Parts: sequence; C-alpha cells; structure tokens
Amino acid sequence: MPSSTTFIEDLLAQMTLEEKIGQLNQMNGGPDLDPDLLRMGQVGSVILDAGPSDGPGSSEARRAEWANHLQRLALQARVPIPLLLARDVIHGFRTVFPIPLAQAAAFDPELSRAAAEMAAREATAAGIKWTFAPMLDIARDPRWGRIAEGNGEDPVLGARLAAALVHGFQGPDMSGPERLVACAKHFAGYGAAEGGRDYENAEISEPTLRDVYLPPFESAVRAGVGTVMCAFVDLNGIPATANRHLLTDILRGEWHFEGFVVSDWTSIPELVYHGVAEDEAHAAYLALHAGVDMDMAGMAYLNTLARSVREGRVPMEEVDAAVRRVLEVKRRAGLFERPFADPSRAARDVLTPEARQLARRFACQSMVLLKNEGNLLPLQGFRRILVAGPFLHARDELFGTWALDGRAEDVLPLDEALRQVAPEGVELWFADWADLALRRANEADAVVLLMGEHPTRSGENSNVSDLGLPPGQPEFIAAVAALGRPTVLVVFAGRPLAIAREVAQVQAVLYAWHPGIEGGAALGEILFGQASPGGRLPVTFPRATGQVPIYYNHKNSGRPLGPDRGFQSRYVDLPSSPLFPFGYGLTYTAFEYANLRLSGEVMRGRLEISADITNVGDRFGREVVQLYIRDRVGSLTRPVRELKDFQAVELRPGETRRVTFILREEQLAFTRADGTRGVEPGTFYVWVASDSQRGLRGEFRI
Ligand code: NOJ
Repeated sequence: MPSSTTFIEDLLAQMTLEEKIGQLNQMNGGPDLDPDLLRMGQVGSVILDAGPSDGPGSSEARRAEWANHLQRLALQARVPIPLLLARDVIHGFRTVFPIPLAQAAAFDPELSRAAAEMAAREATAAGIKWTFAPMLDIARDPRWGRIAEGNGEDPVLGARLAAALVHGFQGPDMSGPERLVACAKHFAGYGAAEGGRDYENAEISEPTLRDVYLPPFESAVRAGVGTVMCAFVDLNGIPATANRHLLTDILRGEWHFEGFVVSDWTSIPELVYHGVAEDEAHAAYLALHAGVDMDMAGMAYLNTLARSVREGRVPMEEVDAAVRRVLEVKRRAGLFERPFADPSRAARDVLTPEARQLARRFACQSMVLLKNEGNLLPLQGFRRILVAGPFLHARDELFGTWALDGRAEDVLPLDEALRQVAPEGVELWFADWADLALRRANEADAVVLLMGEHPTRSGENSNVSDLGLPPGQPEFIAAVAALGRPTVLVVFAGRPLAIAREVAQVQAVLYAWHPGIEGGAALGEILFGQASPGGRLPVTFPRATGQVPIYYNHKNSGRPLGPDRGFQSRYVDLPSSPLFPFGYGLTYTAFEYANLRLSGEVMRGRLEISADITNVGDRFGREVVQLYIRDRVGSLTRPVRELKDFQAVELRPGETRRVTFILREEQLAFTRADGTRGVEPGTFYVWVASDSQRGLRGEFRI
C-alpha cells in the first residue's frame, strides 16, 4: 500500500477543483448512472445496485463484473482514482443472518463478529467494498421501525457489539480482499425520533446524548471504523447533517476519528426542508463546514461547491480536508493497488455450508424464551402437533428488514424445515387458515402458533402506533388457546410487541424475531430440543404501547415507579413494570446465583465482583451473567440500574462456576452536572444478575 501523506498530497496537487468535488459525490449506481460522470472524475463512490439483470451462472460473479466495469470507467478519468463501491450489507449478504436486534439478543460479540466477517466475505465477492453498517442507534421506542436494525437500548451492550461488528467487517486490515470498510450509523440520536416516527426530530440532553446514545459510536471509532454516516435527525434544533458539535468537535476533536463522514441519503439538500439552509448551496456549505465529507445521492456538493469556493463562500481548505479524508480511506482500503474484484470468488465464497451453519447457530442463540409453563418446551411426548399461523410457509419473510441480497429460493419454507427436524414418530399437521386450525387443534396433542409481523412492518420508516400483533392474530391466538391444548406461541418480529394478553393465554412463548435464512431449521431444533434458545432481551418489552418509552436504565424520580402506592409514578390502568425486562430470557434449564463477593468495601481503581452460578436444572445450558450498578447519589440524577458488563457461561446439570467481573473505576464515569466526565465519590450498589430486575446485590464505596 502506498504510504499515506505524500501519496495523497501528490494526488491532490494534480486535481482540479471539480475533480476534488467529484470525490465527495456519491451516486446511486442504477441503470441511469451516466458513465461520462465516472469518466470525468465526478463521482467518488457508487452505491451498487444489483447491476444488469440476473442470468445463468452465479449472479454474484456477474455483479463483481459489473462493479469492475464501473471501476474501469472511473479509472479512465484524467486523474484516475478508484471508486469506493458501497451497499447496505446489514445482517448478512446472500446468507442472511438474524436481524441486528436479534443478534444483540444473543449477547455474544464473537458471534456478531463472525457473522459480519462472513457478510464481508460474500459481499466483496460481489464487488462491494463498503457497507453502511453497523447501525448503532440506541432505541428506547419500539414504535420506531428501525429498532430492528440496531442493538437495542443499552449503551454498554451496544458499544461491545459495535466494536465486534467493526472488527468483523474490516478485520485487522480493511485492505484485505475479503474485508469491507464499515460505516457507523446514524450519527447521532436518530433512535430518539419523537413519537417513534422515523425522520422526526429528537431532543436529547447533552448528558444523555453522551452517556446513552454516543458510547456505541465512540466504541466503533476506537475499533478503527473507516467511515461514519450522519443521521437524518434534527438533534436539539441542529440537524445532524449540519451539526458541527457532533461531526467535528466530538467525532474528530474528542475521539480523533480519522476516516470520513458520509451524509445519509439526500440529507444535505434536506437541510432546506429542516429550515436551517436557504437553498442547496447554503445546505452544502453547512454540511461541509459541519464535517460531512461525502454527499450521498444529494448532488448538492456537485451542483454548488465549485461555485461557492470560487465566490469565496466556502474555503478551499475545507474541500481539501474532506477530499484528503476520502482518499485516505480509499488508500487504507487498498483500492489504489487492487481496484478490481475477483469474479471467480463468488462460486467459492457465497452461501457456503459454513455460512449456513453460522446462520443457524446465530438464530438459535438469538431466540428468546419468554415463558415456559410446566416446561412445555422442548416439545416431548406429543404425537400429533398442529402448526398454524401466517408464517407457516415463510421463506424470505424470515429475513426481516434490509436483506437486499437474500433470496427466497435459498430458504426452506418454514413448514418443510420443521418437518425435516421433527423427531420420528411426531406427526406435524399444518393449517394456514384460522378456522381449519381451530378444527384440527381440537384433535391435536399440542399446538404451535407462528405469529408476528411481516418484515415490511419494521425497518426504515415502518413505524407503528400500536405495538399489538397485527389485526386478526390476537383473535386467532385467543380462539386456539381457548381450546385448552398445550400451546406454544412463536413470535416473528422486528421489534418488541406488546403481547401481554397472548402471553397469559398460552403456556409457552418463544420470541424468534426475524431469524434469517436458517430460521426455520433453528426454530425446529429449539421446539424439539436439539438446540436451546440462547437469547436475552436487548430491549425492554412493554405491556402496552402507552408505556413507551420504557427502558430499564431510567431515572428514579422523586416518586419512584412501583406498586400502586398513592401518589407515586404510575398508570391507573396498567402496572408500571414492563412485561419483560431488559436482559431477561429463560433457558431449558435453570440457574441459581449465590455467594456474591466483592474484593473490598472500597473501590481503589478497580474491584473484583464474583458469584457462584449453578445449573440446577437437568439440561446443559448457557447463562448470560450480567453485572449492573447503581450510583446512589450524583450531581445529576443517576439511572436506577446500568449494565456494566456481561459474561456467558455454559454449565452442565449440577455444575457450579464462579463468575468474576473486574469493575474499573472509569466504568463508573458519567457526564456530570458541570458538563465534565468523571466519577463522583459515594456509595454504589452492584448486582450480579440474570436480568435487569433481579440479582444478588452488594454495595461498595469510592
Ligand atoms: C437511508 C438509510 O437511512 C441508511 O441507513 C442507508 O444506509 C441509506 N439509505 C443507503 O441505502
């Protein structure tokens, strides 16, 4: 790889103003992309669409050829600079893994890393070099459809997964032919959109922004993420796309981010609609000055920057700085040395058995067992099992949102997948129709209901005002449950749904999210006990839509939420507690926590906190042991609990293991009343717990 500074400066010195601005322009690579713009050095990056229509042979190979064709056009420019070819590779490529929110439920950074690595291998085989992932938006409002794309509500879990995903996509060196440049998005505060309506504005106090919304991004930067995408959101009155405080002061000044920032789709010209820019030229000026280096599909830089520079309204240095950053990422991505993809890789590297196996493991690990009365699951001793519901024949409905490159034909329909996995002697009966299901349920020994929301009901701009199951399903479930057969409810969804009534009606509930390409087999393995559900909730489950926002790390208030005690915070029509708390998830065995020990009563730099975890059930199991703290008194009010760490342990029946956490003083730092970050001396509670509402509690001081 050429060495950095002189190489970039030499290039820059050869470029005209127009060519420089071309590097800051990203266009969609649809059929209407004008090849002359590429030849004239007017495009720095192309968002790859699928390319020419599919024909015989591996279509990923054809896509790699299409990518190479675009690259050749760009390299015909007077100053040849390779394109950075981009695409939304969000939770897998052709091998679709569970949606990100489901992945977060696995509480398993290594699995997340491995899936991202696999996605990078497949996507690069199709000529892609840059993904718009990971999505790191903290979300406390499940009405917001994009909660499906992120890691849930917790900053520590989010930060751990952010680093894992960046490492997975980029590897130790993003120039590797099987590595993608990652993009941490959407910076920042996008998940706090008012009313759960995508693209709405957000009001987030500076301490909450820094302590809750930003940590995953900081973690991605520390992990070396190559690029950052700014959010559509209007944050505290300054749209993220024009927010210099975020993009320059914090991102570059405080965190020393050295990659480049791309806008979100047309978010630069949208500054006019936000009402902070007079016109396109003003919008381009604001965005560039704030720190947005590349204009995604907005054309505002291409249309206006040259003139603004010539007329003295935009400093040349700001253009040069942005171009340097873009060129530097291209250099680090190895594009100057290896601009072309190898189309022969597709046949070897796409949809391998290894990838499918990883997808199946991840799906099992991400499904959350919410209820299991009388250990109904795994299903044992039932001969005739009725399986019914709208997901019965699901194929690509299992993918979830943002699975642009998954294909229905790669997925075994759910009913067939279940049939393949079902043990001998089990008769599976299938029913699509509610009335048929009702008739057959009467004769069945047990019932499995496959309910939930279609993938188009979550994801970008797919927000709901009602978190209940889609129309018809509650009635379906109630009618079947009323027959009194042992009933398992499986929920496929891109968000926490408010299913309090349904949970009460059935004996077992398994939350399957949108589990990806191997979701059917994974579900079968869990239902019949060949695998165990491994997930824990990465987000609080409300009882009803009206409880939103509800999240575990809330403040106490002067009249704390609690059982109905007069003038305390509450609803008159609903318990205050969530339906299921953050961190919650059952297994096919049971664990006991005992013997909490702290290495001292006073923390001096660090503290060791440990507890014995015993598998008291009769099956092998994996427990996600969680470490929470509460800072009792602060110059600003502190959350009632904060996750600080977690560890998974796998235990045989009867086995006990001592799990030890090292809590360091800096993990207790927060944004204080005076705006500085640090730790305040005082008393802290600490819990070693199986979820955010339980656990063994200890206490220490600083
Ligand atoms: C808009 C979305 O907000 C962003 O997440 C995505 O990466 C871009 N479109 C490109 O498709």
